[in-house]
Amino acid sequence: MPGGGDLLRGRHPGPVERLRQRERRFLQRPRLARRRDEGRRRRLRPAVHQGTPADGERVSRRTRVSALLPDFPWDTIASVKERAAAHPGGLVDLSVGTPVDPVDPLIRTALNAVAAVPGYPTTHGTPELRAAAVDALARRYRITGVHPSAVLPVIGTKELIAGLPRLLGLGADDLVVIPEVAYPTYEVGALLAGTRMLRADGLTQLGPERPALIFLNSPSNPTGRVLGVDHLRKVVAFARERGVIVASDECYLGLSWEGRALSILDPEVCDGDHTNLLAIHSLSKTSSLASYRAGFVVGDPELIGEMLEVRKHSGMMVPLPIQAAMTAALGDDEHEARQRERYRARREVLRKALAGAGFRIDHSEAGLYLWSTRGEPGLTTLDWLADRGILAAPGHFYGPQGAEHVRIALTASDERIAAAAERLSGN
Ligand SMILES: Cc1ncc(COP(=O)(O)O)c(C=O)c1O
Repeated sequence: MPGGGDLLRGRHPGPVERLRQRERRFLQRPRLARRRDEGRRRRLRPAVHQGTPADGERVSRRTRVSALLPDFPWDTIASVKERAAAHPGGLVDLSVGTPVDPVDPLIRTALNAVAAVPGYPTTHGTPELRAAAVDALARRYRITGVHPSAVLPVIGTKELIAGLPRLLGLGADDLVVIPEVAYPTYEVGALLAGTRMLRADGLTQLGPERPALIFLNSPSNPTGRVLGVDHLRKVVAFARERGVIVASDECYLGLSWEGRALSILDPEVCDGDHTNLLAIHSLSKTSSLASYRAGFVVGDPELIGEMLEVRKHSGMMVPLPIQAAMTAALGDDEHEARQRERYRARREVLRKALAGAGFRIDHSEAGLYLWSTRGEPGLTTLDWLADRGILAAPGHFYGPQGAEHVRIALTASDERIAAAAERLSGN
């Protein structure tokens, strides 16, 4: 495989070197993150304990993986949530992109139909599931030229993303590029693999670097920004030139409100050549299947084959009833269209209410969020909303450049969205 091949070859340092690499990476991280880590480590028992154990003392020579990671962002706004929940009309929680509409009966029936099957599922998924994915990609997103063997089902795409750099064999010498304002799990994936990481939206920011992996996310969480065909083509050309793997997270591709969102595998983008390209698709949003944990990754047959090989050894098979549910969901566009229209209506109500309350909405031409600002620190806006019983997500969760925004999700019932609009209008 051109370029990408060496990412998967012989990059596995010994245990001591791995520890050194982790320490080195701590030192390379930005000052703010380091301070956060220091605070965190003070709260933790020593990561590496040496010496003679006292009676009953637990001796651990391991490094705590959690110490490599930032504080879980949602825990940090627990008090704001409490305040918003004290509103007499109850909490309107627009902080998380979690579906609220019941799973379609067609999908539930498919799940039930295999509920009695006792055997292990295969890691690669049933042929029916992979064929359904190939057909859905062609019907819904004009993605052609995918062989069913180049589809790999996954237990949720969050899980895939958090493990992807490691799964691809990346380590301390490798650079993972993520969007400037990004879904936090891309960073988590880089931290868990111990790679270097850079936030960049433009290729010129990369200078002479030859990243190992670039994460794209169009339409974006949190900004709702859609990358145009020219931008995507440039990334593909760059990736081909430097042998970079591009992982395009496309979980909001089916939720486009203005303009047209394209897959990295769209022939208009990649000219039908999937080498070093991966598209990550989730059924959590388009089919409201977040609770089922259902997604798949598709693209370069060689990369998919490599990941399949590793996962056959390590497990993470998608449960068979979920595979059956996914097959049904991918085979039916009607429930997906109904869900899209629910979100479109909620978006309209919220968009008008936010504009009326003096918010500016940036990007947000697709996806499940309104990326909103009042031209002040996002935490101030978060408080302003909490006073009205509305909980949003502060923009800094997604990177320093998000600090003046809040992310407002469309994932609440019609009744809660109407309540939010009324409160925003001052009634
Ligand atoms: C950009 C992005 N990628 C991936 C995911 C994960 O989706 P899931 O793990 O439910 O497939 C989310 C969920 O919010 C997301 O916003």
